[in-house]
Amino acid sequence: MSVTIKPVKDQSLSAETAFDLGDFLAVRAARVNDALDRFIPRAKTPPATLHRAMRYSLFAGGKRLRPALCLAAAQACGGDESEALPLACALECIHTYSLIHDDLPAMDNDDYRRGKLTNHKVFGEGIAILAGDALLTQAFEIAAQCKGWERYPQSTIILELARAAGSLQLVAGQVADLEAEGKGISTRQLRYIHERKTSALLRCSVRLGAMSANCNSAQLYSLSDFGYHVGLAFQVIDDILDVTQTSEKLGKTAGKDAQAQKATYPAIVGLKRSESIAQRLTQRAFAALKSFDGHAAALDALAHYLLERDR
Ligand code: FPP
Ligand code: MG
Repeated sequence: MSVTIKPVKDQSLSAETAFDLGDFLAVRAARVNDALDRFIPRAKTPPATLHRAMRYSLFAGGKRLRPALCLAAAQACGGDESEALPLACALECIHTYSLIHDDLPAMDNDDYRRGKLTNHKVFGEGIAILAGDALLTQAFEIAAQCKGWERYPQSTIILELARAAGSLQLVAGQVADLEAEGKGISTRQLRYIHERKTSALLRCSVRLGAMSANCNSAQLYSLSDFGYHVGLAFQVIDDILDVTQTSEKLGKTAGKDAQAQKATYPAIVGLKRSESIAQRLTQRAFAALKSFDGHAAALDALAHYLLERDR
């Protein structure tokens, strides 16, 4: 996949830049998959059912976007991607845990994810809950393997991850998402949900990558802004795709949001306005990369890809 980044209004890169995002993603996904395979206990290690369940969802074909954002941020700040690799893996473990739990009957009750039966459909609810628990814990075990950096000691890294995944961010977003079902909520409340259930982990992904490069405070500020806006745009687009795409394309049951009376952008502001909101958020993300002066080509291409994605 070759993404040609064209200069559009308000976009950060002034010159047209060709960046092979397909190649970037394929190389990073392979590295992350290899590392995850080493970090996670073997499928035969007792309790084998648990380790099989963890591996089932972890290797079910996720796009590895959070790791890619983490590694791209490390690159943009002049870091060594291999130092960011454990953090990229930790992020994917947290993401996968959240999907396993999100799919449970007690939550969104989904039968398909990433084109496969959901974890609880294969292993039963008890094991799916425990596989999610174990992946969340595993994430911190993996992250603890980073050595820490001058400006960002190991404790800062662990705190960053814990805060993004905890009761004020990821879990808070999920609580608000569940509590908003079937209710008419304001766009302000909807943004609260999206900021927490999706944007927090994407923002954390770029922040951790930047920290692994011992970034300065200006770089951290810009990349936090980038991650926040990309994260919001990502969820608005996720909402749109649920309405516009087929189940085959998405690898999960399309139209579930409307069926479950979920609070989503298309439900609250309509499809057309949702699309322009996603565009605007992505432009804000591009603007945040301006100070990188062309050194953030991978992040720029990733933001384009997220805006244009169809699954
Ligand atoms: C799809 O990511 C996932 C989202 C858009 C995030 C949705 C948020 C939740 C499910 C929060 C759940 C939280 C808890 C605490 C249960 P993706 O398109 O990158 O998925 P992929 O990895 O399968 O490609
Ligand atoms: Mg959900």
